[in-house]
Amino acid sequence: MKVSILYDSKSGHTREVGEIIKKGIERVDGIEIKCMNIEEIDKEFLDESKGVVFGTPTYLANTTANMKKWLDDSHDINLEGKLASFYATADYIWGGADTAILTLINQIIVKGMLIYSGGAALGKPFIHLGYISVNGVNDKDIDTPMIFGERIGKKVKELF
Ligand SMILES: Cc1cc2nc3c(=O)[nH]c(=O)nc-3n(C[C@H](O)[C@H](O)[C@H](O)COP(=O)(O)O)c2cc1C
Repeated sequence: MKVSILYDSKSGHTREVGEIIKKGIERVDGIEIKCMNIEEIDKEFLDESKGVVFGTPTYLANTTANMKKWLDDSHDINLEGKLASFYATADYIWGGADTAILTLINQIIVKGMLIYSGGAALGKPFIHLGYISVNGVNDKDIDTPMIFGERIGKKVKELF
């Protein structure tokens, strides 16, 4: 079973958080994971993936133009029926990362993906729309993105 983590990242925060989520998914046996910049995607691996985690920096309280362009241009990639989860990085708690995730959810629904965050249903840590990291990787909170990844891995395995 394969899971792809796709991110946009200029200064590296979103890539770093993706690597931690990857480690969390790796806690679940039998899942192969690739963490890929949207500019260098292994299309065959993505096509075979049952789950896709999208990571975006927050730009002007939204996702990035790069991310939107990738989604606009990815009509040759079949995302239908795969499980989608989201995370965002931002400089400020009030900087609009939730809105960035909501914009991605809006677009991903159109691709026919199934959306999952675990939400508040699994207890603490509550991860509402997706994981959000403020100011890059926060050493005091490696656990939350790891648990987020593990929850995604478990759900992908349960569903597929
Ligand atoms: C053009 C631009 C716009 C940004 N707008 C916001 C914003 O609205 N809110 C916020 O919290 N951070 C904002 N940031 C900060 C980035 O979201 C943050 O540094 C992010 O972690 C960068 O991700 P990266 O290191 O993967 O490129 C902005 C950064 C840039 C370059």
